[in-house]
Amino acid sequence: MSKRLQAVRGMNDVLPERAALWQSLEAVVREVLADYGYEQIRLPLIERTELFSRSIGEVTDIVEKEMYSFPDRNGDSLSLRPEGTAGCVRACVQHGLLHNQVQRLWYAGSMFRYERPQKGRYRQFYQVGAEAFGLAGPDVDAELILIGARLWRRLGLQDVALQINSLGVPEARNRYRERLTEYLRSQFDALDEDSRRRLESNPLRVLDSKNPQMQPVLDAAPTMLEYLDQGSRLHLDRLCRLLQRAGLHYQLNPRLVRGLDYYTRTVFEWVTSSLGAQGTVCAGGRYDGLVQQLGGGEVPAAGFAIGLDRLVDMLADQGHPGAATQPTLYVVSAGDRAELEAQALAETLRGRLPGLRVEQHCGGGSFKSQLRRADRRGARYAAIVGEREAEEATVTLKDLRSDLPQETLSWEALVKKLQPALACGSVEE
Ligand code: HAM
Repeated sequence: MSKRLQAVRGMNDVLPERAALWQSLEAVVREVLADYGYEQIRLPLIERTELFSRSIGEVTDIVEKEMYSFPDRNGDSLSLRPEGTAGCVRACVQHGLLHNQVQRLWYAGSMFRYERPQKGRYRQFYQVGAEAFGLAGPDVDAELILIGARLWRRLGLQDVALQINSLGVPEARNRYRERLTEYLRSQFDALDEDSRRRLESNPLRVLDSKNPQMQPVLDAAPTMLEYLDQGSRLHLDRLCRLLQRAGLHYQLNPRLVRGLDYYTRTVFEWVTSSLGAQGTVCAGGRYDGLVQQLGGGEVPAAGFAIGLDRLVDMLADQGHPGAATQPTLYVVSAGDRAELEAQALAETLRGRLPGLRVEQHCGGGSFKSQLRRADRRGARYAAIVGEREAEEATVTLKDLRSDLPQETLSWEALVKKLQPALACGSVEE
């Protein structure tokens, strides 16, 4: 026997049973984004590698060691997108969407990072991102955060907590970085290996360390909030007031730094304790310098991305069933002529009642085995076409979920009878 091939590590198949949950989640996310006036933008999966190194930052984990980069046949270095913000900005600049205009956009799709796979962390994962361009104030930061809050509410998720921080403007952050580096150097002996490495390349990321032994050193570290410029402080204060007015609880976490370099001022994360180590289900912030950095004008911007794989895991853990996929009607037949009529009936119903789930039995077999299959598929009704029905242009309807007697109807009467099933999944008697 030939060797069976497996999916690439960290890249998951979503089987039909789980796909139903994905579909309901995606539908709710789209609905909420539309409610807030966000419009969809569809972006390529592959971009020039340079786009990511220039935006996410050369000395970040993502660019240094997690990108799927390859030369194309021209020798240009391309990469599978590790995130969506850079591509979204690139597209907006390329198509002139940002000239004195406000844009509220969203995108969805797979992202790729060569990370060590574990529950909630995959090499291909799915994000929905929202980006707002042309708005400099904390009002839109609050709006982006409120979108998250509304989404958790609609999904019935309670265990998701908000953390916010401000990284200030670049000058303030540079001052803070110097001060932090100085402090960390003075604590060098207490730093773990990872932090020693980061100390020189990206000292802010040392604050991210989850190592319990590092916590006393980090607790005593100077915080960004002490170094914030006046403008960023006012921005943060106003954001806090807006969130308070909206009744949102948040934790001001001065150690929240994010793993991408483009952020300025507000950063935030929505974190759950129910998923173990990979608990951040949504993250984002403001990136006022990025549009200009990528060749556009001086356009303020802010956004977030939700990790859908993690949300699906969370919903599944809570027993969320997802969208129904069972057929409403399962069409069975026996005999040559009946088979012709049964197929024509199924097509007629699909034409007359779009949205009604009609599954046609294929592959023959006795009525008994066909009805058993209808039951296993979870169908509500079976439409039975035998020789007699075929001759009379009728159909026998059997309710598979009750003891009601079956009835023989004309096709037209069946259409009328099934009409209400479109709305509620069953027919009123
Ligand atoms: P990020 O924090 O790198 O930000 O990713 C956002 C979310 O994507 C994470 O909070 C997590 O839920 C999910 N995620 C990230 N990596 C993985 C992974 N390996 N496996 C599963 N899920 C993952 C960004 O990507 C920014 N572009 C967000 C943003 C938009 N900021 C402003 N606008």
